[in-house]
Amino acid sequence: MQAIVLVGGEGTRLRPLTFGTPKPMVPIAGVPFLARTVERLHEAGIDEVIFAAGYMPQAIVDYFGDGSAFKMKITYVIEAEPLGTAGALKNVERYIHGPFFVLNGDVLTSLDLRAMMEFHRKSGGLGVLHLIRVEDPSAFGCVVHDATGRISAFVEKPPKGSEPTDEVNAGTYLLEPSVFAMIPAGRNVSIERETFPAILVSDQRLYAYTTNDYWIDLGRPEHYLSAHRDILSGAMPLALSSDHDRSLPGEVYVEAGAHIDPTTQLGANVVVGRGCSIGARVKISDSVLWDEVVVGDDVEIESSIIASRARIGAHATIGAGTVIGHDVVIEPGTHIAPDSRIGGTAAAAR
Ligand code: GDD
Ligand code: MG
Repeated sequence: MQAIVLVGGEGTRLRPLTFGTPKPMVPIAGVPFLARTVERLHEAGIDEVIFAAGYMPQAIVDYFGDGSAFKMKITYVIEAEPLGTAGALKNVERYIHGPFFVLNGDVLTSLDLRAMMEFHRKSGGLGVLHLIRVEDPSAFGCVVHDATGRISAFVEKPPKGSEPTDEVNAGTYLLEPSVFAMIPAGRNVSIERETFPAILVSDQRLYAYTTNDYWIDLGRPEHYLSAHRDILSGAMPLALSSDHDRSLPGEVYVEAGAHIDPTTQLGANVVVGRGCSIGARVKISDSVLWDEVVVGDDVEIESSIIASRARIGAHATIGAGTVIGHDVVIEPGTHIAPDSRIGGTAAAAR
């Protein structure tokens, strides 16, 4: 079985992190998110993956190569211009030879792909969409279906208050190749706004597969932090690398090779990446530091994400909800207001 992973989005809501790292390569407890997805596909018996890429594809190619390290055949198809979520599928049609999974490249979930295959086999439609229930359906694709699971409507990001349901598209589809006939070639096509609605007015059937699995779209900083909270607390089952520092108590994950002054207080919910150096009397809570971040003495960091090689000068305070990009230097004594975005430009990313 094959899977197409959509990894071409620009990750604008994760800027400035995505000026230096494409969204699917953003680390989850030290491992690029996409590697976790590839492992999950492999465990489900999928041995061939097509990455539909476009934004900063080289970072993805460099990491995965031909896929042999992941026991996967990996094919990269790189869009010169974004083709949209259905256009990206049409663009890889020539590689597909049977029913296939489609995964949004930014979804972390415990969904059982094999169970979804079984559901598709029984329902016998053009495809199956994984759904979950959420509190704010207006941020997602709302999917209406009957008691048999047959979908009657797909409404992408409806205005707040007008959502027809709390069941939303969770970004994993299992489709028959005949879906390609429904996607025009050579232009940007949205599967959510164009293709699914077109299928639903035809006589073809799409089915809903609703589960109550762990699920999160990592595309926003607050969700990225809550995913780490869930992993560190065990709410989201995910294997952590074996070479991290196990001597620290509580929900703290420190990768091997980080230097942390013994007077520093970490936690709860803190990830410290490879080669970080953290000075004396520092307080860090509910935050993720990528690799080689340098933190001076007496710094306070709360609910923030700090990208690789950033340097935080002594006595600085970083307000909750802040995102600091790659290589940013915060001068000693600086007070960063909550919810700040610091660093990077779109021009530097290409
Ligand atoms: N190759 C390619 N080309 N990939 C793309 C393109 C493109 O032009 N545009 C977006 N993608 C990829 C993104 O990288 C991401 O992995 C996925 O498609 C979905 O795009 P997002 O930008 O993350 O969409 P969203 O989160 O606002 O909404 C989507 O996901 C929700 C679930 O998380 C929709 O599918 C919603 O219906 C859904 O509820
Ligand atoms: Mg998303």
